[in-house]
Amino acid sequence: MVRTIAAALLLTGAAAEAAPTGDPATRAAALVAQMSPAEKLALVHGYFPPLAKPEPPVVLIPSAGHVPGIPRLGIPTLRESDASLGVANQVEQRRGDTATALPAGLATAASFDPSLAYAGGAMIGAEARAKTFNVLLAGGVNLTRDPWNGRNFEYLGEDPLLAGVMAGEAIRGIQSNHVVSTIKHFALNAQETGRAVLDARIAPDALQESDLLAFRLAIERGRPGAVMCAYNRVGGDYACENGMLLTDVLRTDFGYGGWVMSDWGAVHSTVKAALAGLDQESGQELDAQVFFAAPLAAAIAAGQVPAARLDAMATRILTGVITSGLLDDPVPATPQPIDYASHAAVAQRVAEAGMVLLKNDGDLLPLAASAKRIVLVGGHADVGVLSGGGSSQVRSVGGAPVEIPLTTGAAKSFARVTWHASSPLRALQAALPGARVSYVDGGDPAAAAAAVRDADLAIVFATQWQTEAQDTPTLALPDRQDTLITAVAAANPRTLVVLETGGPVTMPWLAEVPAVIEAWYPGQHGGEALVRLLTGAVTPSGRLPMTFPMREADAPRPVPVGFTSRTVNGGGPPFTVDYVEGADVGYRWYAREGRQPLFPFGFGLSYTRFRYARPTATRLQVAFDVTNAGGRAGADVPQVYVAPPGGAFRLAGWDRVDLAPGATRRVTVTLEPRTFARFDGHGGWSVAGGDYRVAVGHFAGDAALAMTLRLPPIRYDR
Ligand code: BGC
Repeated sequence: MVRTIAAALLLTGAAAEAAPTGDPATRAAALVAQMSPAEKLALVHGYFPPLAKPEPPVVLIPSAGHVPGIPRLGIPTLRESDASLGVANQVEQRRGDTATALPAGLATAASFDPSLAYAGGAMIGAEARAKTFNVLLAGGVNLTRDPWNGRNFEYLGEDPLLAGVMAGEAIRGIQSNHVVSTIKHFALNAQETGRAVLDARIAPDALQESDLLAFRLAIERGRPGAVMCAYNRVGGDYACENGMLLTDVLRTDFGYGGWVMSDWGAVHSTVKAALAGLDQESGQELDAQVFFAAPLAAAIAAGQVPAARLDAMATRILTGVITSGLLDDPVPATPQPIDYASHAAVAQRVAEAGMVLLKNDGDLLPLAASAKRIVLVGGHADVGVLSGGGSSQVRSVGGAPVEIPLTTGAAKSFARVTWHASSPLRALQAALPGARVSYVDGGDPAAAAAAVRDADLAIVFATQWQTEAQDTPTLALPDRQDTLITAVAAANPRTLVVLETGGPVTMPWLAEVPAVIEAWYPGQHGGEALVRLLTGAVTPSGRLPMTFPMREADAPRPVPVGFTSRTVNGGGPPFTVDYVEGADVGYRWYAREGRQPLFPFGFGLSYTRFRYARPTATRLQVAFDVTNAGGRAGADVPQVYVAPPGGAFRLAGWDRVDLAPGATRRVTVTLEPRTFARFDGHGGWSVAGGDYRVAVGHFAGDAALAMTLRLPPIRYDR
């Protein structure tokens, strides 16, 4: 990575001198002016390599997408790979090509550490570049509105500020390698069930103040070269032919200059899509026809689409290619060496910062040095850690010790239940050479109970596999794992549960176990990261980026809308999903409905304690002291929630502070006003004048410090 960045710096300097003058859009327009109509048309649709059969000289790398370049103008071929968690290789289309797997997006979000989001992005962007890809289909920022959504693990949680900041930093990191990152899926692709047919309904201002706010903040920070529009409809129109989203919001409100590419198989028309603002049809073989090839040429010839629109499409594509740095610093045509060891360290840092300690009665953790007999139960913890399925699936360095093909379901063709080769068992054995650490598979609860009876500690690894294209109809752990946990806890009161899940699960056994860690899908070094937390080498610091509900019925939609055993990704009759919570996603819904969550947004324990004191608030800044009042070094995430007059609390800022035992630091949090402003319908935001309640807390709903902030009316045009 160091090498790539250094090279990039040198090249940037050289390119700056050689580069044509003008802003990216002007440079892009000058290139488009030199193109033939056929060249422009070739730029606005792309192959899906697994199904495409192009004419020579086009050579496809097995991956998500390919758009031929225009060598005579120096315009690079776009080689597109998934995704946010690393360079994907879902069902090993590229035999033997492994990459570094980050933990789930939820783990990155749980770190509340923008610098880690950036580091993870910089790392996967460097690998994409070294593997000759120049577009990374990353930046998944859909808000996690429903706890059962199959893709929650790819995303960054339920809060627009947290998700927007973290996505923006990840994108910035990726593009620091001079490759394009997307941001996706624009917008409201909040469930997988029926994603290709459903119509998402929400009030326009509520959409602006929630999902679109996350996109807006991420685009401002990360400046992604491309936006990927979603499969679903929003307010009646498919997202990829939705003038409200692609033109009114993205161009007019956001002032976005890059290009809109479709999701794979998400285009349904030529004229409507082109006029609404779609710039490029991706994965064309997955659509009913290649809408942006001959049909677009015909529509232009017939005057249904202005020729200037094709110019604008090509110009926006090149604008994204230029702003990301790709045009001036092309990706080498042959694979480059990758420093996998340092990249694995990045994945491990994210995992260590993102695991959330949910319960730790009697200070069961960190493990006493005196623990001599530890039994690990289930979850294939002898060989690895679970990952999430679908297009984001990385085939990680070290391979897949367990890989289970699917026999049914919408994800069958492109997902397998896959474990990364990071064995918690071996990591714990290495960390505690004086202890006897063993493993039982957990398939038989009675046998597991017998195995843990005389142990100093039992650790149950409970897994819930989630995948793109499918939602889970229940938040209960599958395969009778609740029974397993109850049996183990009954046999040994010193039982820790480690959750490897794609989001919240119900925990009917919670009162029976003293300790629980949410490890998410912890990535390629998840086993090593977990063991560093267990042994106290690292103090847990992750905070939940999603509310964990007490029961399914407490969520805005208790089960996936439209879910039947027959519902498949692409098919089924259309249906609507009403986002009744509006902008009150996640913790705001639970507060509004007066429902107590099992664990609130922002919650996470530590091996030490933090106290807040001496608050002051001036205009958009809140300052206070954070003290580490316990006996260990650790990081805290103080959170500032702001409630407008008569309104509910929203996260408006946070900090992440590392503190030695006994140390105090004064932190100043600058509030993001759009989290408590109202979108006024004309691209602008207004903060009403008045008294705003401010809570500095350890989680949503907590008010360790409370104060009032008097604000004058403030208006923002953009
Ligand atoms: C997913 C996208 C992905 C694309 C290409 C789609 O099914 O929704 O996130 O980038 O496939 O693989």
